[in-house]
Amino acid sequence: MNGAGVDGAAVDGAAVNGVGPVTVIGGGPIGLAIAWRCAAAGLAVTLHDPQPGSGAGAVAAGMLSPVAEAYFGEEELTGLLVASAARWPAFAAELTAASGIDLGHRGEGTLVVGLTRDDAAAARRLWTYQRQLGLALTPLDAAALRAAEPSLTPRIGAGALLPDDHQVDPRRLVTALREAAVRAGVRLVPSAVTDLDTIGAGTTVVAAGWASGALTGLPVRPVKGEILRLRAPAGAAPALRHVIRGQADGEPVYLVPRADGEVVVGATVEEHADTRVSAGAVLRLLRAATALVPELAEYDLVETAAGLRPGTPDNRPLIGELPGRPGVLVATGHYRHGIVLTPLTAELIRDRITVGATLPDSVTPGRFAASQTRKAQSWT
Ligand code: GLY
Repeated sequence: MNGAGVDGAAVDGAAVNGVGPVTVIGGGPIGLAIAWRCAAAGLAVTLHDPQPGSGAGAVAAGMLSPVAEAYFGEEELTGLLVASAARWPAFAAELTAASGIDLGHRGEGTLVVGLTRDDAAAARRLWTYQRQLGLALTPLDAAALRAAEPSLTPRIGAGALLPDDHQVDPRRLVTALREAAVRAGVRLVPSAVTDLDTIGAGTTVVAAGWASGALTGLPVRPVKGEILRLRAPAGAAPALRHVIRGQADGEPVYLVPRADGEVVVGATVEEHADTRVSAGAVLRLLRAATALVPELAEYDLVETAAGLRPGTPDNRPLIGELPGRPGVLVATGHYRHGIVLTPLTAELIRDRITVGATLPDSVTPGRFAASQTRKAQSWT
């Protein structure tokens, strides 16, 4: 599927190369990747962040899920996810070569499962839609599912393999991007930018996650997600190879196994702007995780954390010129898809700056231009 029209984007000839240095605001995966790509293209780049890599990227599970996250009515977003996921293998290889850091990029695929009869029915309905879009998805019978992941409970009602839904370790990703950016000549400034008027000449890219809303006036809001990290007891073989996504008694959950035996369990989706971890969220996530993979109850609970995703009114990112502010681009609003959309976003912004490449209509910040007149909101 290529509904977003992002491949083979036209170059409109409005070259902006030579306009001056690039200032990136925000040192998460998106900001760091933009800085790296722009510096590697020969631009002078400065990145501002008091603590690069400490935002939503540090909490993210790292699923690269264009198929599992293809939801009803979000065809334009799905096109972006598919286009960026296709770039991931080359992006990972290039970044590893540029940084010397392994990203934990794994391609075993994702198993989507439904536990109860209702969970299974909801899953099958979505699979029908996803297959109609031409996305890669193979329903599995109980024997095939158990053969693929013997640790899954035999009570699973329905399962499917999504071979194109991979994973990466976001913490390794950020470390690698930072290293590659510095090697490419990016200057890191450990301070926050709270007012765009304080930035000098050249091009500014706002990639500050949910905080981009207050900086730009665009409708970006924080959407809280709580996660857990479990670790296999010493000497135990890892319980899982695939990413597992599913629903257990109506509770959505995903399990992302790392090569070192860690399993990330996520995630809540809450319209809150705080990062406290609640006992109720931990209970719900553990209940759903152990309903799918009972063995996880034997694991050590090594971390609980909450992060704030940058949400937008239509769940699509904001990538392109900030209306009314010449020289200012934004790259934010990636909501639940920041990691998978990192390669595409960095490429779009770099190509916009260097050769004036056209951006897909589906991501332009101008679609929310009316909200420019709103006063910047405080979400705390
Ligand atoms: N990408 C998964 C999440 O935001 O929970």
